[in-house]
Amino acid sequence: MTAQKTRSRVPRLLQAVLVVVGIYLAFRVIFDVILGQPIPASLMVMYMFFVIAGVFMVFTFTEESARELVAPIKALVDDPGKKNIRNVVFIIVPLLVSAIVYYKMQPSLDAPLELRSIHPAPPASVKAFGKRFDLTKLENPYRKFEKQDPEKFRELVAEGGVVYIQNCQYCHGDKLDGNGPYAQGLNPVPLNFQDVGTIAQLQESFLFWRIATGGPGLPKEATPWISSMPVWQNFLSEEEIWKVILYLYDYTGRRPRSWEHE
Ligand code: HEC
Repeated sequence: MTAQKTRSRVPRLLQAVLVVVGIYLAFRVIFDVILGQPIPASLMVMYMFFVIAGVFMVFTFTEESARELVAPIKALVDDPGKKNIRNVVFIIVPLLVSAIVYYKMQPSLDAPLELRSIHPAPPASVKAFGKRFDLTKLENPYRKFEKQDPEKFRELVAEGGVVYIQNCQYCHGDKLDGNGPYAQGLNPVPLNFQDVGTIAQLQESFLFWRIATGGPGLPKEATPWISSMPVWQNFLSEEEIWKVILYLYDYTGRRPRSWEHE
């Protein structure tokens, strides 16, 4: 290999960098401009990792090409003629790195981020009252009386109302609006059942699960959970829970969500 030939081309290191940058830009153009679908940063990192690895493999395929690739770096480190550039680089690079680290380590004064899903996906089945309940099939055993025996249904709703006033209004409020006397001191706040975003969106089986197992029954993926919602299976019977559910829907005038269209 003659020195002349090497000098006549772009240095291999620069070539490699240009290829990597070119592929990066191509990705951006294809995804952002042509497809109109921005590519997720994590995916981009993965793609670029393979691109860099691939380019490195190609550019170091023979010993000769490997030597050419690192030649500028090697020269910088041991060529006596490059002493000044070397000193500058060895000062600038650490300064740059420390600046980046310093900038990234800036403490944030924002409250710590708590990503909480208000209605986490329910498990397929739950354990309560020493039994397993299949939440996909579970139904309120009293719901049928709404049509079959309206008088009996009114009684059940009234009984549910008693359960509610004795146990739930302290937090969820006597108007079911989440504004009970304890509500101010709680975080997360007790839910407002009048809001269309709560029970109107849910099936009765979901409510049964949430009432029976409370805050501690929430799935791990919904953490950090610091919900004060009590575990009502410790204090109420299954029947009382179903009745209080009837009351929640009746008082708010909402319909539980169900699979079949009514
Ligand atoms: C100590 C306060 C407190 C009491 C008493 C309480 N709750 Fe709650 N409840 C909460 C809090 C706080 C939440 C919101 C956080 C969560 O979902 O766990 C909640 C959530 C709920 C939810 C979930 C609603 C949804 O949209 O996901 C239901 C249903 C519920 N409560 C029903 C009841 C019933 C029925 C009673 C009485 C038997 C009751 N709660 C008593 C504090 C309470």
